[in-house]
Amino acid sequence: MNNRMEIKFPAISRNESLARSVVSAFAVELNPDLDRLGDIKTAVSEAVTNCIVHGYPSGNGEIEIIAENNDGILHIEVLDRGVGIADITTARQPFYTTKEGEERSGMGFTVMETFMDSLEVENRDGGGLRVVMEKSFKESL
Ligand SMILES: Nc1ncnc2c1ncn2[C@@H]1O[C@H](COP(=O)(O)OP(=O)(O)OP(=O)(O)O)[C@@H](O)[C@H]1O
Ligand SMILES: [Mg+2]
Repeated sequence: MNNRMEIKFPAISRNESLARSVVSAFAVELNPDLDRLGDIKTAVSEAVTNCIVHGYPSGNGEIEIIAENNDGILHIEVLDRGVGIADITTARQPFYTTKEGEERSGMGFTVMETFMDSLEVENRDGGGLRVVMEKSFKESL
């Protein structure tokens, strides 16, 4: 049976582990092995950290996560209402970062792309960013 959940929380680093845990708990019904559960957690962490660090540079904002199980395909959306990205193609390149020298390596999107089956990044109407990732678990069900 298909399933869906939504959560919203303030964009503070304390909530990175919350987001990771909630999404991995949701994913359990897809019967992931520990490696693939780790992939999901890492991808969600990267997306949520980006909202906090880049989306809301002056603090104060909200992050929304939508997760769906669509016939064995895990669909995850991470949404913010922050500043968005002027050039998404460039931002997705490995090692591209606008926070150089501040312990960022520019590998977040690359990690999401590598650990998930697909990654979509788009600016939202009304401002902010929408990151959509999918990973299939059909073979493990
Ligand atoms: N939610 C977001 N809102 C606004 N800008 C973003 C968002 N997510 C990413 N970006 C932009 O895209 C760039 C690349 O993101 P990416 O996660 O690949 O690297 P990083 O966050 O800079 O470094 P790392 O993830 O390795 O710590 C960021 O430097 C930032 O300019
Ligand atoms: Mg990042």
